[in-house]
Amino acid sequence: MNSKVRMLIFVLCVTGVCVFWREYMSPYSLPKQKPCACDKCLSEEDPWFTQRFDKSVEPFLSANYSVSEEAFNWWKLLQAERRNFSTYRKTVNGLFQIFPPAPDVVKSKPDRCRTCAVVGNSGNLRRSHYGLLIDYHDIIIRMNSAHTKGFEADVGSRTTHRIMYPESAVDLDNTTHLVLVPFKIQDLEWATKALTTGFSGRSYAPVKSKIKANKDLVMVVNPAFMRYVHDMWLAKKGRYPSTGFMAVVLALHICDEVSVFGYGADSDGNWSHYWEKLKYKNLKTGIHPGSHEYGIIEELAKQGKVRFYKGW
Ligand code: C5P
Repeated sequence: MNSKVRMLIFVLCVTGVCVFWREYMSPYSLPKQKPCACDKCLSEEDPWFTQRFDKSVEPFLSANYSVSEEAFNWWKLLQAERRNFSTYRKTVNGLFQIFPPAPDVVKSKPDRCRTCAVVGNSGNLRRSHYGLLIDYHDIIIRMNSAHTKGFEADVGSRTTHRIMYPESAVDLDNTTHLVLVPFKIQDLEWATKALTTGFSGRSYAPVKSKIKANKDLVMVVNPAFMRYVHDMWLAKKGRYPSTGFMAVVLALHICDEVSVFGYGADSDGNWSHYWEKLKYKNLKTGIHPGSHEYGIIEELAKQGKVRFYKGW
């Protein structure tokens, strides 16, 4: 080895030792940069959370993402899908002829604090006076036919994202993201048709042929994400997660700070809504593990991962 090479190796070793010492040993070592600008960032690690939270699962479908056949096989059982994986793939490709090829998600940054309010439909929002607090968040996620008109003092008036499926769909204004939770291939077909030529299929409940929504703000929840919520967050309890519980986990993936409002059954164990008198008193929480989901949200709050506003 000539002396120049020896010198180079020596310099590299010294530099390595210096960098290591400055980073980890020195009293002047730089503080680790926080991943977000909130007081506390969701991604900060702790065992209970990391056992469940998997950052690598894509919350939304995009043009260059493919669901595995295994995940499709789980998903197709949710509402007895009979068509095959290749039809699913063809239909998903069709989605991105009309909708944005990548979801409109604000990325995390050290100088940014993405605050989110997830607003469920529980009757406990009545007389809660949470309206101003909810509206103060950057992202406000509501579900299905959640009403705001006439309930502003309790639930706020802004909606940046509305999570829904064909049977629960309502018209949206031009600035709200339509977040489709698909439970069958027909739901994907519905999205493209309801925003263009009109949909004429049938389902277990009436489905709107057309809806008003901004097609540039459509996002579709990834079936593999739905499976992850069921497996990792609910330990496979219930048939599959409720829309509301999926919304909470979605928020953990796209926000730095999450506040949860409007979750919790009434005193008879029914999922009643804040805007109406309950019609079907024996529906309870249906196929969803309502009390288990509620327990996980409570645990998230105990672990300091969400703020849980329980209403009255
Ligand atoms: O009834 P709906 O499915 O439209 O409500 C949206 C979500 O809000 C539910 O999926 C559930 O997670 C939550 N919810 C609740 N308690 C209620 C009503 C709804 O936790 N009383």
